[in-house]
Amino acid sequence: MKSLETKRMILRALSLEDLEEFNRYAKKPHIGPMAGWAPHTSLEESRAILNMMIKENEVWGITVKPSPKIVGTIGLHVRNFHNAVLNQKEVGYVIDDVFWGQGLMVEAVKAVLDYAFFELELTKVLCGHAKNNLQSKRVIEKCGFTPTGIDLRDHFDGTKIEILMYEMTINQYKELTP
Ligand SMILES: CC(C)(COP(=O)(O)OP(=O)(O)OC[C@H]1O[C@@H](n2cnc3c(N)ncnc32)[C@H](O)[C@@H]1OP(=O)(O)O)[C@@H](O)C(=O)NCCC(=O)NCCS
Repeated sequence: MKSLETKRMILRALSLEDLEEFNRYAKKPHIGPMAGWAPHTSLEESRAILNMMIKENEVWGITVKPSPKIVGTIGLHVRNFHNAVLNQKEVGYVIDDVFWGQGLMVEAVKAVLDYAFFELELTKVLCGHAKNNLQSKRVIEKCGFTPTGIDLRDHFDGTKIEILMYEMTINQYKELTP
């Protein structure tokens, strides 16, 4: 997949060499649950998930210059039939808590939106956060997404969870980035 560069980061393809860095934040108890997945319990579990992400080729590793090590991921996903038919994808992201609060994810999402609209020529990019995930809500607001409604999704603990959904169309994006 194509690498994307921002002022402070390089978003690049993942490889199995990223395993230890991936596991370092994916095992933290408060990170995965915010995004709907369970904290990793072993290196082998992280390896299986990293392998899946490498094969799917939809997820970039986030590196903060000048380090080549990944500190998070950001991906563009086709979540359902509806997404595929309408040429739209959903952006999802996570960054290690050591890097929270520096506006890095807003910068990463904007690079992915640029790529999504101007290279993939998607019609719409979707995004969602759990009601209590105010950090992700702020990222979504700062990127300029528009709220669309609530989606009920599976949570890792077997319950259903309400996800507040948002969208950005290519025209809205062009207005935000003249
Ligand atoms: C959501 C997430 C990607 C935000 O990334 P980020 O680069 O820290 O984003 P920002 O720096 O723009 O901060 C967003 C908000 O988080 C809050 N925040 C910042 N640092 C924080 C910290 N150390 N602890 C708690 N909240 C913090 C602030 O309210 C900030 O909003 P503000 O800019 O209006 O003050 C990151 O918190 C994360 O990876 N969380 C775990 C996974 C996750 O929730 N993924 C999204 C699933 S929908």
